[in-house]
Amino acid sequence: MTDAQTAATRIAQLRSDLDQHNYRYHVLDEPSIPDAEYDRLFHELKALEAEHPELVTPDSPTQRVGSLALSAFGEVKHEVPMLSLGNAFAEDDLRDFDRRVREGLADELPAGDLFGGGASVEYSCEPKLDGLAVSLLYRDGQLVRGATRGDGSTGEDISVNVRTVRNIPLKLQGTGWPAVLEVRGEVFMSRAGFERLNASQLEQGGKTFANPRNAAAGSLRQLDSSITAKRPLEFCCYGIGQVQGELPDTHVGILNALKAWGMPISRELKLAKGADECLDYYRDIGERRDALPYEIDGVVFKVNNLAWQRELGFRAREPRWAIAHKFPASEELTELLAVEFQVGRTGAVTPVARLRPVKVAGVMVANATLHNMDEVARLGVMVGDTVIIRRAGDVIPQVVQVVLDRRPADAKPVEVPQNCPVCGSHVERTQLIKRSKGRETVSEGAVYRCVGRLACGAQLKQAIIHFVSRRAMDIEGLGDKSVEQLVDEGLIHSPADLYKLTFEQIVELEGFAELSSKNLLAAIENSRKPELARFIFALGIPDVGEETAKVLARSLASLQRIKQALPEVLTYLPDVGLEVAYEIHEFFSDSHNQTVIDQLEQVLDIQGQGELGAEYAASTTLAGLIDKLHIASVGPTGAKTLAAKFDESLEKLLAADWLDLRQTLSEKPANAVRDFFAVAENRDRALKIEAQLRDFGMHWQSEKRVVEGLPLAGQTWVLTGSLEIMSRDIAKEKLESLGAKVAGSVSAKTTCVVAGPGAGSKLAKANELGVKVLDEAEFLKALEGFGIGVA
Ligand code: IVH
Repeated sequence: MTDAQTAATRIAQLRSDLDQHNYRYHVLDEPSIPDAEYDRLFHELKALEAEHPELVTPDSPTQRVGSLALSAFGEVKHEVPMLSLGNAFAEDDLRDFDRRVREGLADELPAGDLFGGGASVEYSCEPKLDGLAVSLLYRDGQLVRGATRGDGSTGEDISVNVRTVRNIPLKLQGTGWPAVLEVRGEVFMSRAGFERLNASQLEQGGKTFANPRNAAAGSLRQLDSSITAKRPLEFCCYGIGQVQGELPDTHVGILNALKAWGMPISRELKLAKGADECLDYYRDIGERRDALPYEIDGVVFKVNNLAWQRELGFRAREPRWAIAHKFPASEELTELLAVEFQVGRTGAVTPVARLRPVKVAGVMVANATLHNMDEVARLGVMVGDTVIIRRAGDVIPQVVQVVLDRRPADAKPVEVPQNCPVCGSHVERTQLIKRSKGRETVSEGAVYRCVGRLACGAQLKQAIIHFVSRRAMDIEGLGDKSVEQLVDEGLIHSPADLYKLTFEQIVELEGFAELSSKNLLAAIENSRKPELARFIFALGIPDVGEETAKVLARSLASLQRIKQALPEVLTYLPDVGLEVAYEIHEFFSDSHNQTVIDQLEQVLDIQGQGELGAEYAASTTLAGLIDKLHIASVGPTGAKTLAAKFDESLEKLLAADWLDLRQTLSEKPANAVRDFFAVAENRDRALKIEAQLRDFGMHWQSEKRVVEGLPLAGQTWVLTGSLEIMSRDIAKEKLESLGAKVAGSVSAKTTCVVAGPGAGSKLAKANELGVKVLDEAEFLKALEGFGIGVA
């Protein structure tokens, strides 16, 4: 084949590929390759066409910008075309741009100085948001039409959809706006909005998006605008289209005028003089890129003076007065070389992608998380695949998509090992137990677990690293590497073995000398009397963080009680839900864990054990217990009615016959209660919970209830105005749990008033009487002082 023939074949291939990618990107909002890869293909085609101008055709993707409108939407002709921007990747590209601008404006700019530098041009600097371009048409200040860019001349009518974007004004504010004003800008999704959307899509079994741009595009171009309305879209304006009327004569002047009329503009908008200041801006934003609440793929520089913009004009479909200075791409293609499995602290066996190293957003990436096997299945990823890797913000690199048309014939499925790669124990799939309405449904979980527990080196290492960490047992001087060495050399098999270590054993460890060994021994010794909360946290119970550990310690105040507590009893604790309660209960029911805890109890002297926390002791009622049994058709109100009818006695309730029940409840719940207690297991469970409440001294009939011991006992509080973070009901509940009475009106006897925005006469009265007033933030802080969180 001749050179020209080879070029022609390659050109044809590139054109058909690019057409396909264009279609996927612009019409389907489902690109199959990252932008950076698209750019490379596009540039390859451009270069080939430059070498072989005879092969250029009018329908080549290089001759066309953007894409067709999706036919389902109406068409909108753009009076003023919506153009794209030229790109600068390196500093020199930007300097070349500035030089071309100055050359183009030679007649306007003051003559050069002695060094031939010439005067510098003023540029507006804005982030280049990664979303999709939108045109908004305002007539007499009213939003009358919204459109996508489409191919730049014709877009899609998305008027209904843009009206659902919260920060797009439907009406311009103030005065002085032109009678016809077309505002242009980017519709985008913040990182947080994107994460939220994907999480809820995942939960509802819907389609997730690879990145915020796709999510924004997919959400805005919905045929059903009620879906768009639910998506966290935002708008940022960066320019104008057609105008009938007066506007300022600089770009920044116009943006500021638009801002005054209610248009959102970028907070990062700045002016820069000359290429150097532009580059400063680029570097500054580049450093803050990961911390911005939204994704950007570069910055845009525009000649600020509009007369000069007109003078410079356009080349092909790009303005000569503006340029996009791009950042290193946050998505790249690479090959999945292997999937390895890592074992974590709780034995979870998680897949990790080993990649052909690739630079993503300026950092070399060789590994990426695959989360769990559900994620592997969702991605449909196989070993050998070409995958899109995304590294955005400070998040760990992720595999977001497989490029299916590049799958090699010998691609291999990802399989979970049957045996733990570290200890060889059996790997089993966890079960997902959902509990609701008193019923348990069991399904297969996404997580696989090595059953080896602390016999598994990986789990033992992680468990000990957690055990000694600062917020847990706080044993200073024992780094991760030393823990690994201790485990690898068989010197410790359980956290309790730490307390048997000798000076001779430690001094042999890498990096240890005489002094550091003595220090470590002293640190271990010093940790022998942990507070209960620290000890509980140090155990590494799944889903039990520092806060929950504190709650457990403060409320139950003894390891013995915590070990025995039934899940339902645990749910009396503030902020402990049923799932966590079951995790805690299962942890302590496990015989292996029991052995480890016994060993620890022998070497430790756990502090802070004693009387049950007062607020906890007072938190039970028969109605609450009935509620916790989750009997179908019996809600909190039904539970209260039953408790009252049967004199707060579970015994009487259990002895009730259908007629007794029917006197208080309607037929359906009465049947439900009868059927529920007809099952021996349910009766036993109710009795066991009650017995434990008695045993712990927190039964509603217990003598030991120390209500007067509550911190706010005897106080009267009033809530007024609207509370924004904590609802009034919850605030009331929390205050009552601390022993306070919550009243509806302010008097001299009122201890304290919590006043939110909109508070009126009650606040005035409080001020008049000199009653203490807290705003919501102060109130939450006060609650925190009593160990009550906002959740
Ligand atoms: S100005 C003639 N400013 O980038 C100038 N564009 O490749 C037209 N974009 O389609 C665009 N942020 O979707 C401009 N601050 C900004 C921008 C921006 C993002 C997008 C826009 C446009 C593409 C240009």
